[in-house]
Amino acid sequence: MNKKIIAPSLLAADFANLQRDVEMVNNSKAEWHHIDIMDGVFVPNISFGMPVLKAIAKHAKKPLDVHLMIVDPDRYIKTFADMGAHTLTVHYEACTHLHRTLQAIKAEGMHAGVALNPHTNINLLEDTINDIDLVCIMSVNPGFGGQSFIQNTYDKVKDLKALITKKKSNTLIEIDGGVNDGNAKQLVTAGADVLVAGSFVFKSQNPTATIADISQIANS
Ligand code: DX5
Ligand code: ZN
Repeated sequence: MNKKIIAPSLLAADFANLQRDVEMVNNSKAEWHHIDIMDGVFVPNISFGMPVLKAIAKHAKKPLDVHLMIVDPDRYIKTFADMGAHTLTVHYEACTHLHRTLQAIKAEGMHAGVALNPHTNINLLEDTINDIDLVCIMSVNPGFGGQSFIQNTYDKVKDLKALITKKKSNTLIEIDGGVNDGNAKQLVTAGADVLVAGSFVFKSQNPTATIADISQIANS
C-alpha cells in the first residue's frame, strides 16, 4: 500500500501565529501543506490571497497543495506557479474548459488537481481522468472549515477509485472537509490517498500529536 498523505489545512491555523503553525506542520508527520484560496464569489467566504500565501511559502518546507475556490482560475495559474505551488487544484464547477486549464497548470510545472463539490458526480471526469494528477472530493460544501462530513463521500471515493482503475490512471484521491480520526480509516479503505484535515488538527490540544495519530490510522 502506498503511504497515505496527511495535508493539514492552514485555514484552521491561528493567522496571528501563522509562522508558528507552518513550522508545526514542517516538524510533524504531515506530508503536505493544504492552502485554501477563496474569492467570495465561487464560495461565500474570503480566506486569504497572494501576500499571505507568499508569507506561508517563505516558511513552508513541504509541498504546497493549493486548493482554489475561485471563479475563472486560469487568470492566476502562473502566479501560483511563481509562488511555488506543487499541486494546483481548480474546481470542476468553475472551469468551462477544464481540459485546457489542466494543460495550462502542467505547462507551468505543477501537478493538476480537480475538486468536485458534493453535488458533482465523479463520472463527469471520465474523459479527463488521465490528465488529472489529483481529484479532491469535497466532503463538505466548500467555503468554511469545521463543517460535518457528508456520508455519501464513501460511495463517491469508491466510484472514483473504480474509474481510476478502469482507465489505468495514476490519479490520487484527496478528501477535504470534516476529516477526523473517526472517518480516516474508512476513507482510506474506500480508496483515498490524501486526507486534508483543518479543524481536527488545529483545534486539538496537541496538533503535532493529532497529525501523528491520523497518519498512523491512515497507514495502519
Ligand atoms: C473547505 C476547505 C477545507 C477546510 C477543511 O472549503 O476546502 O480545506 O479547511 O476544514 P475542516 O477539516 O475543518 O473541515
Ligand atoms: Zn481545501
